[in-house]
Amino acid sequence: MEIKKLNLDYFEDIRAFYRQQIEYLERKEFFYPYQDDDIKNILGGGGIMAAVLDNQKIIGISAIDFDKKYGQILKKIINTYYPHVFNHKVCEYSGVMTRKGYRNQGIAGKLYDYLITSVKDKKDICLCAVVQLENQASLNFFFRRNFRLVSVKRSFDIDFGYLIKFIDRDILIDQSYQKIIHCLDYAQYEKLLSEGYAGVEFFDNKIKLCKIK
Ligand SMILES: CC(C)(COP(=O)(O)OP(=O)(O)OC[C@H]1O[C@@H](n2cnc3c(N)ncnc32)[C@H](O)[C@@H]1OP(=O)(O)O)[C@@H](O)C(=O)NCCC(=O)NCCS
Repeated sequence: MEIKKLNLDYFEDIRAFYRQQIEYLERKEFFYPYQDDDIKNILGGGGIMAAVLDNQKIIGISAIDFDKKYGQILKKIINTYYPHVFNHKVCEYSGVMTRKGYRNQGIAGKLYDYLITSVKDKKDICLCAVVQLENQASLNFFFRRNFRLVSVKRSFDIDFGYLIKFIDRDILIDQSYQKIIHCLDYAQYEKLLSEGYAGVEFFDNKIKLCKIK
């Protein structure tokens, strides 16, 4: 297996990979699909997209999208409850998908390490992962990498959580202030996120929030 930065030559393979893997998902809303142009923009230099390949077959893909317009939209959503992202460029950590049959073998983790290394010199980046609030695998994946859930929003009938991480520092939390709520309890999110809490853990359809230091 090898990790490869993808370019436009891979466009059709990428499209086919996502189409097929989305078909296999029990909860299709867990993966918000790319438009063709989004993929082309990232591959054309507006981001970095990497894949784990096994004999040319795509096993997993992840990307960091530098799109400015979308970054501004995300920044606004993040700043609703966490008004501390000023000078940072918000970039979506997106397209995270591992081929069915290859999950839980560290594929998404390998791609994460590769992508983080690729952007480690861009200290002004704030990564944002947009994850459906019941998506256990994905929430766990990001929480274990010190992403913090700082905003939530229901749109297009989908429950979105916004998890962020800075490249140059972690968002520190105080474990002595913690609350556990149902993962879709918007009234509690509204209250706790406004009071300076952030989501840090997911289990049994519940989110643990701790106060940000
Ligand atoms: C989310 C997803 C990409 C994870 O890919 P993966 O290659 O299986 O992930 P890894 O094996 O690298 O696991 C990484 C971490 O996530 C956690 N994880 C993965 N699947 C999990 C599950 N079903 N339940 C709980 N935790 C899970 C693992 O414990 C692991 O933690 P660790 O790194 O501390 O050991 C994969 O489940 C997937 O493709 N899901 C469908 C598409 C999707 O929902 N994408 C996310 C959209 S936001």
